[in-house]
Amino acid sequence: MKELWNERYKNQEFVYGKDPNLFFKEWLKKFKPGSILMPADGEGRNGVFAARMGWKVTSFDLSVEGRTKAFQLAKEKGVTLDYRVGDFDQLQFERESFDVVGLVFAHFSAEKKSIFHKKLNDYLKPGGIIIFEAFSKKHLNYYKLNPKVGGRMGKDMLFSEAEIMTDFENYEKIRLQEEEIQLNEGKNHIGRGSVIRFVGRKVANQN
Ligand SMILES: C[S@@+](CC[C@H](N)C(=O)[O-])C[C@H]1O[C@@H](n2cnc3c(N)ncnc32)[C@H](O)[C@@H]1O
Repeated sequence: MKELWNERYKNQEFVYGKDPNLFFKEWLKKFKPGSILMPADGEGRNGVFAARMGWKVTSFDLSVEGRTKAFQLAKEKGVTLDYRVGDFDQLQFERESFDVVGLVFAHFSAEKKSIFHKKLNDYLKPGGIIIFEAFSKKHLNYYKLNPKVGGRMGKDMLFSEAEIMTDFENYEKIRLQEEEIQLNEGKNHIGRGSVIRFVGRKVANQN
């Protein structure tokens, strides 16, 4: 997995572009800047955007090449990021220390994805916000029609509203929707796709 992402990121081009994801951008702007965790931040387009908006950004990703590109983008935009390289399994952050967690196309295997969400829940302060966009299970039909939209993966790595309801049961659902959208992100996300969009506020700790 790590090798695959390093291979994708090692070229000069930013595979999802340098601009932030539109849903993440729209929603982040609604909150007063504080601390934000950006899991699976890749080449840093979203983390760098958050830093430009005045957020104190902590990013992480498997890919060291991703970090190199993220630092390049941060320098270009005149901001800094704390960016750790590693598998989310091994990384540790302080409990209840982030105001926001931004999850953008953070897809993991079926057996890992709920564990990952629960771990992120621990890092978020009570009252903290999750901003989430990722491909839905319906997306496979879109990918078959147009592989340029990206998101080629097993159905169990894709999301449903029901899974989000379960993983984030202790959240007020500010918004939760499966949507068909037009993607135009770099060269790897081009065309119509199906995503789950979720914004939630943590109201309590999980049992
Ligand atoms: C589809 S890319 C999205 C990158 C970024 N969020 C964006 O929207 O531009 C998925 C990212 O997840 C990272 N990733 C996959 N498995 C991971 C893991 N177990 N721990 C940390 N990062 C992981 C990959 O390295 C890759 O950068």
